[in-house]
Amino acid sequence: MTEQEVRALAQLPLEDLTPRAHAVSLEYHGTSVFLRGLIEATNHCAQNCLYCGIRRNNAKVRRYRLSREEILAIVERGFAFGFRTFVIQGGEDPCYTTEFLASLCEEIKNRTAGKAAITLSFGTKSLAAYRDLARAGADRYLMRFETADPVLHEKLRDGNSLASRIKALDCIRESGLQVGSGFMVGLPGETEETLIQNIMLAGRINMDMGGVGPFIPHPDTPLRCAVQKPIELAIRATALLRLMLPHCHIPATTAAGSLDPLGREKMLAAGANVLMPNITTVEHKKDYQLYPGKICIDESGFQCVSCQAMRIASVGLSISWDRGDALRLKERSHVW
Ligand code: SAM
Ligand code: SF4
Ligand code: FES
Repeated sequence: MTEQEVRALAQLPLEDLTPRAHAVSLEYHGTSVFLRGLIEATNHCAQNCLYCGIRRNNAKVRRYRLSREEILAIVERGFAFGFRTFVIQGGEDPCYTTEFLASLCEEIKNRTAGKAAITLSFGTKSLAAYRDLARAGADRYLMRFETADPVLHEKLRDGNSLASRIKALDCIRESGLQVGSGFMVGLPGETEETLIQNIMLAGRINMDMGGVGPFIPHPDTPLRCAVQKPIELAIRATALLRLMLPHCHIPATTAAGSLDPLGREKMLAAGANVLMPNITTVEHKKDYQLYPGKICIDESGFQCVSCQAMRIASVGLSISWDRGDALRLKERSHVW
């Protein structure tokens, strides 16, 4: 889509925009909603992003780090339950070295007979590190660009530039990993133009997976006084993202469900096609609060599956337990 087309679509009332996006999602992805098991492995972080509840300077956080065996136990349980993708996420924790993550990926592949897809999300790394992870069996890497406004980006990410984030995303693609990215909406300092530029950058990155998260101010961060923007902004962004990237796997995010009890359903009806039940051990879920009001803290992710099945059905869609790889890989396998 051209910038002009994005601008025109962004002006549409939500009730006109979301059915268009939903129709595109049905055309490319059918009625399937892929489930991914999310594991929040560590809340230690060397970074200090102003928006994030587990930023380095938040001394109130009770820090934890899952051991290799703890992660493997969650994966084995999830695999037996039916999950075929595991999203392992955390802060930029210096103790989770590339060697540690690579060896973890190898062991996950061993224990799941190579059948489980692994998505990692531990922030910015070097090309060599992404290559090592890909070689060890990682399939995908998630790293949002957060905001396409370079000035805002550098301010909110404590001096880290948008250019360096985009460079790291290029390295992810070059390493052979499937590329996941995305952005938050409703950040303080954002304008209507930021949304247009977020969608244009998402298109340029041509991401295989892309998430939109409503920013939710955390009381123990410098952005505690920011005004919460309505969920509709995130729904509009989801619909525009779907229209920009029809092939992209787009999650209905936990942040949307935390801001609005029907937030995830609204995202599914606006073009999203992925849900990520949080299968982290319940005792640690409350310590991974990027924002307040996070849902499903007291339930195991396995309990969430039946709840999510109902939510998915309520918008006329159905669960898929497939790996749900990037569509470009599927298209390539047709050719070969
Ligand atoms: N540390 C890695 C990184 O930053 O890429 C991965 C984990 S990080 C906690 C995952 C995502 O949480 C970030 O990309 C950001 O978009 C989101 N996030 C952080 N703080 C948030 C907040 N206050 N509201 C909504 N989303 C938030
Ligand atoms: Fe660390 Fe990611 Fe939070 Fe930034 S968003 S402080 S990199 S966990
Ligand atoms: Fe977790 Fe409903 S999705 S309890």
